[in-house]
Amino acid sequence: MADSKKWVVMATAQTPTNIAVIKYWGKRDETLILPVNDSISVTLDPSHLCTTTTVAVSPGFEQDRMWLNGKEISLSGGRFQSCLREIRSRACDVEDKEKGIKIEKKDWEKLHVHIASYNNFPTAAGLASSAAGLACLVFSLAKLMNLKENPSQLSAIARQGSGSACRSLFGGFVKWIMGKDENGSDSLAVQLVEEEHWNELVIIIAVVSARQKETSSTSGMRESVETSLLLQHRAKEIVPKRMVKMEEAIKNRDFSSFAQLTCADSNQFHAVCLDTSPPIFYMNDTSHRIISYVEKWNRSEGSPQVAYTFDAGPNAVLIARNRQVAAQLLQRLLFFFPPNSDTDLNSYVLGDKSILHDAGIGDLKDVEALQCPPEITNVPAQKYTGEINNFICTKPGRGPVLLSDESKALLNPESGLPK
Ligand code: ADE
Repeated sequence: MADSKKWVVMATAQTPTNIAVIKYWGKRDETLILPVNDSISVTLDPSHLCTTTTVAVSPGFEQDRMWLNGKEISLSGGRFQSCLREIRSRACDVEDKEKGIKIEKKDWEKLHVHIASYNNFPTAAGLASSAAGLACLVFSLAKLMNLKENPSQLSAIARQGSGSACRSLFGGFVKWIMGKDENGSDSLAVQLVEEEHWNELVIIIAVVSARQKETSSTSGMRESVETSLLLQHRAKEIVPKRMVKMEEAIKNRDFSSFAQLTCADSNQFHAVCLDTSPPIFYMNDTSHRIISYVEKWNRSEGSPQVAYTFDAGPNAVLIARNRQVAAQLLQRLLFFFPPNSDTDLNSYVLGDKSILHDAGIGDLKDVEALQCPPEITNVPAQKYTGEINNFICTKPGRGPVLLSDESKALLNPESGLPK
């Protein structure tokens, strides 16, 4: 190792978030984060929702430190420590001939790292920030320390930071295989199909106005495992059969089957939450209104046009079968959930704004002029102004990437401190 205290070596990566269409709910091992069932997710386009993380190493660093969205946070938690330990133990030689720096395998145990991470969406909005965050931490450290492990092997490390993080190591549709080993070595993610495989899909997230959620996923899951008989039945009898059908639906781009399975699995997950003692309520009245409306529309069309899924919070993730349906969906959502008069459309509909254009909506006047959808018979239909914070239009996206452009780094290349 070059003995100058001055040098800093860095790596920056961008990692997507993901939404499960077959849900992960319940651990069989709390420390290793081993689930009670397999799960499947779709990776969301990182241009709209992602984490960027820069990791740096220098002999001048006195301790491991991390900054999240510009604020220093503690790395002492068991989950961060598991990831750091697992990565350090697999680190390899790194050589930068230009800078005259050589770090040998044995040096990594003594060197400290600085980590700066930024989520391009609100961390508290309930949009799986820890999945993208922990996946990005593991991916960027693996690049910095020159690990030889493949993405599935890295996913088993990310899993120990946050269960669903393992699915953010790939783009497209991803399966988390629960595994059988007690040590967790076979509980990892694999890619089912790449993002291009089903590129007609459009995803609209309705970020529901709500207070901070009341029960964390970690404690909610533990309480469900301890008290819900439905969870046991779901894990043993329902999910194994559903996994086979869902993989088939994804491979064949069979939207009807995909939508039916996605909605049924989301509803069963929330039924498990209700079956927990004391019961857990993650969805609210707005979530229920969205479900009822999508069910009504799908029935009136004769076959599913939109699938819905809800994680441990009230936000709706709506998957439309194609762009045309997505434009109709956005019109309907804006009809029922118009923005407050002081909100501008540009901050109400985020992400891929071309869906707004397809829907023929250029400004708030166009929203006011929207007609009641024909499937609504109990006119005048009720409107729910202010129940939604914003919509994010997105699509299935790619997996993690290394950003080689140094201007994207979140740490200063000389000091190793946040820019
Ligand atoms: N939790 C939420 N966001 C995170 C991030 N970007 N990195 C680590 N943990 C997180």
